[in-house]
Amino acid sequence: FNEKNQPLPLSGKKCLITAGPTREAIDPVRFLTNHSTGKMGYALAEEAIKLGAEVTLISGPVNLAPPAKAHVVQVESAAEMYDAVWPFYDDTDIVIGTAAVADYKPKVYHTHKMKKQPGDNVIELERTKDILQELGMKKTHQLIIGFAAETNAVEEYARGKLEKKNADMIVANNVTTAGAGFGTDTNIVTIFKRDGSAINLPMLTKAETAKRILTEAASMLQKD
Ligand code: CTP
Ligand code: CA
Repeated sequence: FNEKNQPLPLSGKKCLITAGPTREAIDPVRFLTNHSTGKMGYALAEEAIKLGAEVTLISGPVNLAPPAKAHVVQVESAAEMYDAVWPFYDDTDIVIGTAAVADYKPKVYHTHKMKKQPGDNVIELERTKDILQELGMKKTHQLIIGFAAETNAVEEYARGKLEKKNADMIVANNVTTAGAGFGTDTNIVTIFKRDGSAINLPMLTKAETAKRILTEAASMLQKD
């Protein structure tokens, strides 16, 4: 409730957020990862709490302090992140996938540190599971929100992901634009919705971007 004792937009709602990168181990000292810092996901967790939600944050390895009131589950790999989401899913109202989940992992994990040797210049990879897609396919009442970091054809790819992941919203950005994407404190996103509409947000801090996304989510929940 706010100061005027009115309910907050997400009062009583449960929010499940994935954030950060994943690490796919090659051997005990090496892994594959990406440039995600987790800032957008952590900003969403913080703003969702401010808007009254109960937040579970499933986080890959990042250098950020999670919001005090969030329930945090730390994971490393895509497989661990996949396993971590399901216990919360049935009871969740809003799922937000901000994690930059590795699309591939090494086919074999070497239990001992790999040594240089002739003919060792290939690491065989295999696909990881698409967490958001599987959540989307199994949705009963949840609002599913995905992110899409693209370098080109943003609208086409974002709308494709909306369909493929059975999502209600895809928040897309062009990571090659200054002020958007990895590691920055600002973002410039477009929210693509299932009904075909799109909302272009200006350059905002990640906190403000998060608030706009969540306010939109709250109004979509009210409509159902
Ligand atoms: N995602 C996920 N699990 C994966 C891959 C992606 O949950 N294994 C989620 C991301 O958290 C994001 C959305 O799906 O919310 C889109 O991720 P993205 O990497 O942009 O899309 P992909 O479907 O992996 O397609 P591509 O990387 O080929 O563009
Ligand atoms: Ca991907």
